[in-house]
Amino acid sequence: MSTIQKTYKEKLTSAEEIVKNIQSHDRCVCPTALGEPQAIMDALAERVLAENLVGIEHHMHLPTRNWQYLKPEFKGKLTLYSWFTGGSSRKAIAEGRADFVPSYFYEAPRLWNEFLQPDVAYMMVSPIDKHGYFSFGVSSTEARAIINKARKVFLEVNPHMPRVLGDNFVHISEVDAICESNRSLPSPDAPELNEKDLKIGILIAERISDGATIQLGIGSMPNAVGEYLKDKKDLGVHTEMFVDSIVELIECGAVNNSKKTLHKNLSVASFSVGSKKLYDFVDDNPGVMFAPISYVNDPRVIAQNDNLMSINACMEVDLLGQVCSESIGSRNISGTGGQVDFVRGANWSKGGKSFICTYSTAKNDTISKIRATFSAGTHVTTTKGDVDSIVTEYGIAELKGKSASQRAKALIAVAHPKFREELTAEAKKLNLMI
Ligand code: COA
Repeated sequence: MSTIQKTYKEKLTSAEEIVKNIQSHDRCVCPTALGEPQAIMDALAERVLAENLVGIEHHMHLPTRNWQYLKPEFKGKLTLYSWFTGGSSRKAIAEGRADFVPSYFYEAPRLWNEFLQPDVAYMMVSPIDKHGYFSFGVSSTEARAIINKARKVFLEVNPHMPRVLGDNFVHISEVDAICESNRSLPSPDAPELNEKDLKIGILIAERISDGATIQLGIGSMPNAVGEYLKDKKDLGVHTEMFVDSIVELIECGAVNNSKKTLHKNLSVASFSVGSKKLYDFVDDNPGVMFAPISYVNDPRVIAQNDNLMSINACMEVDLLGQVCSESIGSRNISGTGGQVDFVRGANWSKGGKSFICTYSTAKNDTISKIRATFSAGTHVTTTKGDVDSIVTEYGIAELKGKSASQRAKALIAVAHPKFREELTAEAKKLNLMI
């Protein structure tokens, strides 16, 4: 038996044994989305109830399942600190049972290194290789930073987790204990594209030239852009979240990364949620590089890609061009994520551009998503100084260098026609129309 196999055997235990190391008031953290260890979280929830533990913090970006710990009986016992909220955790936050952490995604590893002391780092990883390394799979993000800093490190090894290459590995010598599980990875359906998505997709794709490097954000609109990029040539990928439409663009030959000015020939990302096909695609693929979010999303790194085209979605925009992408009023519904990281990176990239898209209305055309002013408590994600272009199904408002009044006019021109008169009247009252 090799030393690696011997060490693996010594460190191998069950999820139930691992969670016996977690005590009341411990601060636990895992990397984004599918990095959340499924068997460990279930075992932890059971231990918390059985032993009546209290005050345990569970930190992460984007839980993807409707976990037991989100139920009301865990209030004050095992609390989610949501760094980016997904559908399953919105209710717990709205009901005051979970908290959220405002942050720029690229800065999360630094916050763990310099501002927060984690007691426990736990995560799902791919099986060990012959050199003793586990890949963080489709969840690189904060994995390295929390391993470096936590008092205890636990891995859940799952053969369904792809082995993704890059700066994306942990060695067995860095780990306190390991358990195994065999649960399939969550694979949410790809967002369905509607007519508005397609109009927005066409408008943005027209402005992306051959040879550009793209970032596609979360939601149906950024994915629709992918549909219209299939005729382009020599595109590159430098993105936070590797999504299904990127796999399609690589397979059809539109993306080959040959013109990239940073990491030529490689698609760069930090995490992924998608189909089984996507997980198979990134597995052991030398053309795909995953790296920590502190690298991939650092605006200074993003900007080293010439012609970086960033495409993200938002909830609302006010007439100055301030963008809300993470709340409805004061209600937290997602997070800043990497939106600002990429808007800034694109601003600093030679030839770069950032597009933030939104349907012109919500709730069956009863609400305009272009607003004169935000309602009280709204969370501003991208500021009026950072914003570049806002896209709706009615066109593109290019805001860079425009005055307040010019911005208001450009944004009203892409609002839904039924709200344009009302928005113009409000803009006049606010002295935004001269
Ligand atoms: N008022 C009221 N309801 C609104 C609204 C508004 N202004 N805007 C949207 N909604 C509703 C929609 O109608 C929809 O409701 P439904 O679920 O009942 O249909 C829901 O909120 C979600 O809106 P939708 O536009 O479909 O969301 P999406 O899946 O396209 O995601 C964001 C949009 C903004 C939430 C998402 O892109 C995000 O979290 N962005 C921030 C982070 C980011 O950009 N990261 C970048 C790198 S990945």
